[in-house]
Amino acid sequence: MLTQQLYSSSYFIELEEKYGAHNYHPLPVVLEKGEGVFVYDVEGKRYFDFLSGYSAVNQGHCHPKIIESLIAQAKKLTLTSRAFYNNKLGEYEKYITDYFGYDKVLPMNTGVEGGETAIKLARRWGYVKKGIPENKAKIIFAEGNFWGRTLAAISASTDPSSYKNFGPYMPGFELVPYNDLTALEKALQDKNVAAFMVEPIQGEAGVVVPNDGYLKGVRDLCNEYNVLFIADEIQTGLARTGKMLACDHEHVRPDILILGKALSGGTMPVSAVLCDDEIMLTIKPGEHGSTYGGNPLACAVAVTALQVIKDEKMAENAEKMGNIFRSELAKINSPHIQTIRGKGLLNAIVIQHANEDAAWEICLALKENGLLAKPTHGDKIRFAPPLIITETQLKEAIHIIKTTLQQFQ
Ligand SMILES: Cc1ncc(COP(=O)(O)O)c(C=O)c1O
Repeated sequence: MLTQQLYSSSYFIELEEKYGAHNYHPLPVVLEKGEGVFVYDVEGKRYFDFLSGYSAVNQGHCHPKIIESLIAQAKKLTLTSRAFYNNKLGEYEKYITDYFGYDKVLPMNTGVEGGETAIKLARRWGYVKKGIPENKAKIIFAEGNFWGRTLAAISASTDPSSYKNFGPYMPGFELVPYNDLTALEKALQDKNVAAFMVEPIQGEAGVVVPNDGYLKGVRDLCNEYNVLFIADEIQTGLARTGKMLACDHEHVRPDILILGKALSGGTMPVSAVLCDDEIMLTIKPGEHGSTYGGNPLACAVAVTALQVIKDEKMAENAEKMGNIFRSELAKINSPHIQTIRGKGLLNAIVIQHANEDAAWEICLALKENGLLAKPTHGDKIRFAPPLIITETQLKEAIHIIKTTLQQFQ
């Protein structure tokens, strides 16, 4: 047991510094408790969580119903592997495929595994259905994409901090500018292209929202050139942008849908790849999988995590609170804010005349004032609270943002 003196933020930060790999640069705050839209540090200070675990905690921290399912299932059965059937997987598969309207689901764990799975499915479909010659399949990505940290994911990245000095890279990947249908059309004319994989809004790139009509245009082009449209909705999905899926804003249905993050409400890594039989059944027993994928604990949790999004009308709330957030932020009229952008409760500001550390310094000050947000790419700050935030809470948070920005004047 640690003494009270040892039980401090600086102690825990030093431990991580000394014994952990230095692959992250966290804000200097040590959290020990979360409840709804709030998190608490080891000194007991309360913060608004405006990152929500990169949108994994859409339902709010420790949502009572999700935790109840987690505990109940954890006491019964947690892992069987897929060597055997379990009584939770089939029910979850039925539930999630009904929920999103696809024939089948392939359960994985992390988001990046979902991306890898989608690409394997697309390549396989390209060979056995589209007739692409062996080993010639291409996948097109958009510049600025982020879908994780595996070697395949970084091979698709245009961010040097993701890919530099980790080569050689995965062949068969090509890039087009984001939000550019002309460039996409040109790329899709290549008969060896199996799929275009894209985020409906680019999250890690700094909440880059494409023009209205972009997703519809992607859908039409993919239809025209017999190319699969893979939507990476790992960050944008599950009500974050004010609809259940960000693709719903344009009424488009991707051929392959990837979900993760909030699929477990922030309790454990759960991802899913959804598509119809023509694609899914191209992978046969023994050709893909994961020890933890489809484990009964994840299945029980995911059903509840999805259920509460609908029951508590989180998409509607995200839409409403997002509109209030952006309009109130605009009213602040801060000289530091160059741009406010986003949809629903996935928002970001771009800092004006930023020095390299401007966004970081503002995030440090926000922390002091009781709100946690994280800079992305130097001059951008993402604001993405849990979707259960009330108007009163949102106004309080906006007040914190306003007074913090005023400190910098
Ligand atoms: C759009 C998108 N795809 C994929 C991922 C990767 O998810 P994970 O970190 O669970 O592997 C992320 C993570 O931030 C993401 O934002």
